[in-house]
Amino acid sequence: MAGSSFGKKFRITTWGESHGPAIGVVIDGCPAGLDLAEADIQIMLDRRKPGQSRYATARSEDDAVEILSGVFEGKTTGTPISLMIRNRDHHSADYAAIRDVYRPGHADYTFDEKYGIRDYRGGGRSSGRETAGRVAAGAVAEKLLREMGISFAVRPFSIGGVAAVDEAAVKARLEAAIKDCDSVGGIVECIVTGVPAGLGDPVFDKADARLAQAIMSIGAVKGVEIGDGFAAASHRGSENNDAFRADEAGRVTKQANHAGGILGGITDGSDIVIRAAFKPTPSIAQEQESVSRQHENVTLTIGGRHDPTIVHRGMVVVEAMAAVTILDMMLENMASRAEHVIRFYGNKK
Ligand SMILES: Cc1cc2nc3c(=O)[nH]c(=O)nc-3n(C[C@H](O)[C@H](O)[C@H](O)COP(=O)(O)O)c2cc1C
Repeated sequence: MAGSSFGKKFRITTWGESHGPAIGVVIDGCPAGLDLAEADIQIMLDRRKPGQSRYATARSEDDAVEILSGVFEGKTTGTPISLMIRNRDHHSADYAAIRDVYRPGHADYTFDEKYGIRDYRGGGRSSGRETAGRVAAGAVAEKLLREMGISFAVRPFSIGGVAAVDEAAVKARLEAAIKDCDSVGGIVECIVTGVPAGLGDPVFDKADARLAQAIMSIGAVKGVEIGDGFAAASHRGSENNDAFRADEAGRVTKQANHAGGILGGITDGSDIVIRAAFKPTPSIAQEQESVSRQHENVTLTIGGRHDPTIVHRGMVVVEAMAAVTILDMMLENMASRAEHVIRFYGNKK
């Protein structure tokens, strides 16, 4: 299946189906000599793991990662790093009811139209479980990024239309959704601190365009904003422009960060502010109208276990995709100036 790889220098390929034997990721282009152990990856995977709260699916997996290649004596070797997570908690029988029926809001109909065959157990490649591979790759990227002082802060921004800081209101929204056999959407915010100025290329490979692609490729993400994003459309230029000032040391600083750390597709050295809008979980327990593979009208009741909102488990996926993209742009940017290349290789004359 095309489209399973992302990145240029730090290139990830996720593989596997939700109810197959395992899922995982191959990372090609990770620099050699990075200390890497399973525990470095597990810590981030554990944040995505199902069954952790009342609002995340009850499927219980230990999601233990195995490093199959690319690491020798605790260090990356520069060869492809293959990471595998076995699927243990199969409940494929839960999905028998949807074998021949298209779940509204999910990828069943479009997969069938495209390929004429689909792994209906848990959605196969379109399952949220595919994101475990992304998170494992993100953990490797973050390990290297941390060495360069780059850090990530991710949080729910809103859930079901209410600000996430209002915890009581969020809880009420979620409880009401559960009671109604329904689901809600929400917004995840990820702030990346310590990113140097100069990442991203003009035109098609702008830093904001690459981050948008990375994050929009996560299942159920329907919108991505950088900085003020959609709100900037109703601001005046005088409000939206971030004034520049030189500090005492003569360095360029900005008085605000409406741009979210990116100008002209190139990072400006301030925090990168990303927001991702998740739609409500498509699989809901309510009876829904749908159509069968044979194109007959049917009513559908979905079994299986599904999150009332994807926001909690989606947070670490947004962070991982931001990390993979930023590291990829950093590795590429090393060749942006002749002086950098000459400094690296030296002058042999
Ligand atoms: C971490 C994560 C968990 C998800 N869990 C579920 C789930 O339990 N049930 C479901 O129907 N969709 C779930 N999804 C969403 C589907 O994967 C997604 O909606 C589906 O592939 C259709 O793609 P689209 O929404 O991008 O159009 C999850 C997505 C992510 C990122």
